[in-house]
Amino acid sequence: MKNDNIHPSFKLKVCRFLRKKLWLGIPAVFFVLIGLTVFGVASIHGSIKFTSRNDFCFGCHVGMDTIVEEYKESSHFINKKPNGDPAATCADCHVPNQYPAKLKAKIIALKDVYNKWKGTINLQNFEKERPRLASYVWEEMEKTDSKNCRDCHKDVLFDFTKQPQRAALNHQQLEQTGKTCIDCHSGITHKRPVLQ
Ligand code: HEC
Ligand code: HEC
Ligand code: HEC
Ligand code: HEC
Repeated sequence: MKNDNIHPSFKLKVCRFLRKKLWLGIPAVFFVLIGLTVFGVASIHGSIKFTSRNDFCFGCHVGMDTIVEEYKESSHFINKKPNGDPAATCADCHVPNQYPAKLKAKIIALKDVYNKWKGTINLQNFEKERPRLASYVWEEMEKTDSKNCRDCHKDVLFDFTKQPQRAALNHQQLEQTGKTCIDCHSGITHKRPVLQ
């Protein structure tokens, strides 16, 4: 055989070297995997942040329906945070704040890329379609007990003692009546659909 004229101690050295490399390889693979995971999570996180900005939602909804114009006249846009941002963005009300619900909502929303492309909603048919779209939102908010509203309206923003009497009276009974925010506050940002 060809290898027979190689000195045996040399072969042994090569073997030892390769074995060492193999052991080095395991941590290397491990670090690469960690790196990829961090990169993956960071880019998912980045995409979620990017697709939660108002500009992103405006990109499709302006010109498709009258939602953005209505939002801009609503209390949640007119009232500003100290940094000048609106009191609530589209995503603050429509995208769950917690994982995994947040990720699930983003995945479901991918269907709207298709719907946009197909042109399901346009300025001509929007009022006819609005009740259908609103009912998706109401259903979701009933299911989560208006979680997104509650995430903001707590502590200072939801102090019974600081509310007008009519509000406080209604809010104090929330638990007994089993009502949720959206039962009384529908149509808060957009025109309330007329249900037939
Ligand atoms: C790629 C275009 C596109 C973008 C971007 C987009 N939407 Fe939409 N959205 C649509 C279309 C199209 C519909 C109508 C879906 C249908 O006909 O069922 C829709 C419907 C909705 C509805 C109605 C309820 C439902 O579940 O269908 C809500 C709420 C909504 N969008 C909120 C948002 C928010 C919040 C953002 C930004 C985070 C956003 N959209 C970004 C295209 C888009
Ligand atoms: C990102 C935080 C945020 C979210 C989410 C949010 N709100 Fe608000 N909301 C505010 C702020 C800030 C104000 C203005 C407070 C003030 O008037 O000082 C406000 C004002 C209001 C008001 C009084 C003004 C009006 O238009 O009558 C009501 C009622 C209200 N919110 C209900 C809701 C409901 C219902 C939801 C869920 C569909 C919701 N909010 C979601 C932050 C939020
Ligand atoms: C049973 C009906 C009812 C339910 C359910 C309800 N509200 Fe109200 N809310 C009212 C009424 C009535 C007012 C008085 C303002 C008005 O006249 O519209 C009010 C006022 C408010 C205001 C303005 C308070 C202020 O200081 O002027 C906020 C904010 C608010 N509600 C948030 C919520 C949130 C968040 C929820 C869910 C946790 C909720 N509401 C559930 C009936 C209700
Ligand atoms: C304060 C919370 C809040 C904000 C901010 C908000 N929405 Fe909504 N949205 C709702 C609620 C509640 C409904 C259910 C219908 C209703 O009660 O008016 C709804 C319904 C909708 C619908 C269904 C059609 C309709 O008129 O009911 C679409 C589409 C929609 N929202 C998109 C958006 C987009 C895009 C933005 C930002 C430009 C936005 N929303 C901002 C609370 C909000």
